[in-house]
Amino acid sequence: MEQKKVAKLDLGNGEQLIELPILSGSMGPDVIDIRKLHATSGMFTYDPGFLSTASSSSEITFIDGDKGILLYRGYPIEQLAEHCDFMEVCYLLMKGELPTNDQRDKFVKSINEHSMVHEQLIRFYAGFRRDAHPMAVTVGVVGALSAFYHEALDVSDASHRDLSAIHLIAKLPNITAMAYKYNRGHPFNYPCNHLSYAANFMHMMFAVPAEEYKPNPVLARALDRILILHADHEQNASTSTVRLAGSSGANPFACISAGIACLWGPAHGGANEACLNMLEEIGDESRIGKYIDRAKDSNDSFRLVGFGHRVYKNFDPRAKLMRETCHEVLNELGLQDDPLFKLAMKLEKIALEDEYFISRKLYPNVDFYSGIVQRALGIPSSMFTAIFATARTVGWVAQWSEMIADPAQKIGRPRQLYTGVTTRKVLPISERK
Ligand code: ACO
Repeated sequence: MEQKKVAKLDLGNGEQLIELPILSGSMGPDVIDIRKLHATSGMFTYDPGFLSTASSSSEITFIDGDKGILLYRGYPIEQLAEHCDFMEVCYLLMKGELPTNDQRDKFVKSINEHSMVHEQLIRFYAGFRRDAHPMAVTVGVVGALSAFYHEALDVSDASHRDLSAIHLIAKLPNITAMAYKYNRGHPFNYPCNHLSYAANFMHMMFAVPAEEYKPNPVLARALDRILILHADHEQNASTSTVRLAGSSGANPFACISAGIACLWGPAHGGANEACLNMLEEIGDESRIGKYIDRAKDSNDSFRLVGFGHRVYKNFDPRAKLMRETCHEVLNELGLQDDPLFKLAMKLEKIALEDEYFISRKLYPNVDFYSGIVQRALGIPSSMFTAIFATARTVGWVAQWSEMIADPAQKIGRPRQLYTGVTTRKVLPISERK
């Protein structure tokens, strides 16, 4: 971080202007460094929802929302999606560089060595109701991992952090697939390490002991792309949750479990499931107008799920790639005339031409298409967010590890603007009205 300029702040009290350093990163907007503001002025800044606040510095992911740019460690998402697989992207996010062949092989081997879960953990599932949502199960099981893998929980030790990160990336597909199998009443499948990460996940989801299962390579590649596109997204709500939880020194399994809980919300990772549910609720092209009107009505809390993004105000580059994959998958499966897909394409067209959506820069986001792709892959909508969590685990652990390794790291502790009752006296119960 480089300091080039100074901002001067007039507090309106006739006193000297407060000088605040302006810091520049390698790309993106400069930031005003307000770390000493409270000490020098007695004031806090006020920014609910972090609309103008950089909560940390990071070298991992860069987004330019106006230009529709997303870079992992400097590489455009479009190039990574075309030339790399998810394992290479995981290596890149965690280690900062794309792997050589040899490095890739070693990394995949370390993931494979940890792809199974402790047999005792399997019994943990029996404590859940069969109809529990896979995200509810995933939050619980990932949180419980610290009770199973407690030999490497010293977060100040880089080798412990690396091992926990590998455990999490390796086991998440297994954990989420087991949540699905438990829900269906099927036996769990052990991982098959000769398969790719995405194909292995499909095997754990779809194989049954009674029949041979061979993952379709086109569909496995589509799932791999979903994983790449969701791997990291800088300081979004769930990643910020992981960082905040981790800032207290909490163990990585607890932190990632907190991230999964945050991701579940329909305004975040829950959007792909909510989007598909919404398409099913609309049901027919003739009803699109009614739902568009509801989305535009300021007295109605209904939102067109799958549209809009806090950061992308031009287009979401992941949405473009996912749209492409969506067409590839539907062609491969001969589902071009699938009524839900046709409905989604019609909705996309109408919304993109509507003044309300144009003026607010509301474009389809990645989750608008990823739900359609996953449905075509045979994945039930209740699993969509769990797959998102599987993909984002690498981003979470990379961001968590970066934070812990930073010597300037402090516990996260936002302040507030108090608007409650001012100091008053407690009356004996007999005198209260
Ligand atoms: N449908 C209808 N109107 C919308 C939508 C939508 N999907 N999204 C935003 N708006 C409107 C708001 O009502 C608001 O209108 P106003 O200016 O008249 O009050 C304006 O657009 C700005 O909306 P904000 O809520 O201020 O935008 P913000 O950046 O805070 O929200 C968010 C971003 C949460 C993603 C929002 O667009 C949304 O709720 N979208 C639907 C849920 C969704 O698809 N989430 C997935 C995000 S992608 C991901 O997590 C991977």
